Amino acid sequence: MSRPSASPTAHDAAAEYARSIADPEAYWSAIAGTELLWDRPFTRAFSGSLAAGDASWFDGGVLNACVNCVDRHLAARGERTALIWEGDEPGSTRTFTYRELHGEICRLANALQRRGVEAGDGVGIYLPTVPEAVVAMLACARLGAVHCVVFAGFGSEALRQRLAAADCRVLITADIAMRAGKAIALKPIADRALAALPGIHSVLVLRRGVPGITLSEPRELCLRRAMDAESPAHRAAAFPSAHPLFVLHTSGSTGTPKAVLHATAGSLLWAMRTHRLALDWREGEVYACVADIGWITGHSYIVYGPLGNGATTLLCEGVPTHPDPGRYWAMVEQHRVAVLFTVPTAVRAIARHGDAPALAHDRSSLRVIATAGEALDAATWRWLRDVPGGGSCAVIDIYGQTEAAGHLLAARPQAFAMGASKPGSVGSPLPGVVVAVLDGAGNPLVGEAAGMLAIGAPWPGLAKSIGDRRDPDCLARHPGFYLTGDGCRRDADGHLWITGRVDDVVNVSGVRLGTVEIEAALLAHPACAEAAVVGVPHALKGSALIAFAVARVGQDEPRLGAVLRAAVRAGIGPIAAPERVVMVPALPKTRSGKLMRRVLRALAMGDDGALGDLTALAEPSVIDDVRRALSELPNS
Ligand code: PRX
Repeated sequence: MSRPSASPTAHDAAAEYARSIADPEAYWSAIAGTELLWDRPFTRAFSGSLAAGDASWFDGGVLNACVNCVDRHLAARGERTALIWEGDEPGSTRTFTYRELHGEICRLANALQRRGVEAGDGVGIYLPTVPEAVVAMLACARLGAVHCVVFAGFGSEALRQRLAAADCRVLITADIAMRAGKAIALKPIADRALAALPGIHSVLVLRRGVPGITLSEPRELCLRRAMDAESPAHRAAAFPSAHPLFVLHTSGSTGTPKAVLHATAGSLLWAMRTHRLALDWREGEVYACVADIGWITGHSYIVYGPLGNGATTLLCEGVPTHPDPGRYWAMVEQHRVAVLFTVPTAVRAIARHGDAPALAHDRSSLRVIATAGEALDAATWRWLRDVPGGGSCAVIDIYGQTEAAGHLLAARPQAFAMGASKPGSVGSPLPGVVVAVLDGAGNPLVGEAAGMLAIGAPWPGLAKSIGDRRDPDCLARHPGFYLTGDGCRRDADGHLWITGRVDDVVNVSGVRLGTVEIEAALLAHPACAEAAVVGVPHALKGSALIAFAVARVGQDEPRLGAVLRAAVRAGIGPIAAPERVVMVPALPKTRSGKLMRRVLRALAMGDDGALGDLTALAEPSVIDDVRRALSELPNS
């Protein structure tokens, strides 16, 4: 397969986009035919529509995603580094060639098979971003088992819900995760979840040398021991294109985590394609993605995209400021990273410390710095371009979603090279993505417009659970369109700008959190009678959560706010813990009893102008009560 050594020009990119939209069958047939290794070729690239809810990709084709990511590279690149892992502490680096990675995956696939795991079975993975997480995902893919990775920052209730929803039979976890020099015990959290999950018959535990954790055999086993007992060879079967590859949960606006299920061929191809087009990775380059493995970015852009393309992919545990804010640039220098993919929150956290940490390291290998997951504000964009990027590195803002298997829109490198990128804008759709900006009634708006961001045609990365089930939130509301749940603006030059979520989901540090799920965690506490959670702008995190709660009669006590905050931390995880839980005598409601979250949000922001029309408010005195509570309470 010949590959271009440089990214296409702006003209080529526009021509490619036009081809992908004019004749998707021809476009995707050619790409899937050359980029993927098929055990049996597909008979047509795609069929069905969003309106009918029957979109299907690469019918008739049969393949194995793990073979595509590893085995097929062995002949030409077996000794090439596939994974570079940087632990929380500098110097705790581990590397794996494609051949070594293959051996590890085969051992685990054999171990899972020995424990009865078959194609279609759910396997939970509750691991930090360590090489074993990559091995576990690919071992599942090899067997046709469906992995369900749960972010290791989630608490026991969040873990239980997600493992139950994915019908997991086996869990792969670790004794600890490391974060900024601290060990965080994962096994006790897993234990609490497992107590309510009798369907999980085997638990494989990665031991990272922590004493005091005992494994109760035969249900629990040391992961390394189980792998060492197996052969490093394994014969992989092939599965139909539509066979499920993984389940990953997003926060739904209904309060229950939304299980998004991706099919094998479409999501793998989408990850590979967008890894080349949006992130602009080129053959032979070291590529680093500092996301957590537990999110779609970790799935598509640490594992499936780069390994499918035969890249060297660098992953890391820990935080960007440990042991100092120069950590990323030290990694770039040490491993000669060409493409660095991160999130705006991490960049803001390191930019706070000034320019010196970046300037102290040799960043001459860097060609692209990309971010995704939340808005990249113009000031941070410029800092990236001028300081770490030294004025010559392309800075790329990418918009993507779990439901999309990754990226949909990007300020492409060609635009950056021409000086046409606009800081703060997510640029334009990637090939195969038909963007529509809809008004409230679902009518597509033309030209300069603001409205709901929707996609007007199926694309290979569209989740199977959405594409073929007519998800009522995303597909059924305006037939023919997939609704992203985000607002957007298209400017006169056709550049797209994301204006924020339109549902009850708040983006905190690039993580989608459903306010309803957090309210449910507050209400689960016996002292909490009512709760409301809102998102407010935050300089580092993008958005921060503020909770308002009403105590049950007789349960009011001065520390209740802090107690409720701790309850959310324990149940859902630290990321979901509100900045403050403000105890109030009552919540603002309409006369019909609906919670007026926009009023709470305006009050939390101290912005009376945003209070809006208050004629529907049933009890106007509530406003002053909330104001008083906000001003009186120290941060809880
Ligand atoms: O609200 C949008 C925001 O993150 C959501 C998707 O989150 P997730 O499913 O975790 O996938 C992240 C994959 C990159 C979107 O609905 N979002 C994502 N990228 C951007 C963004 N908001 C603004 N600008 C972005 N570049």
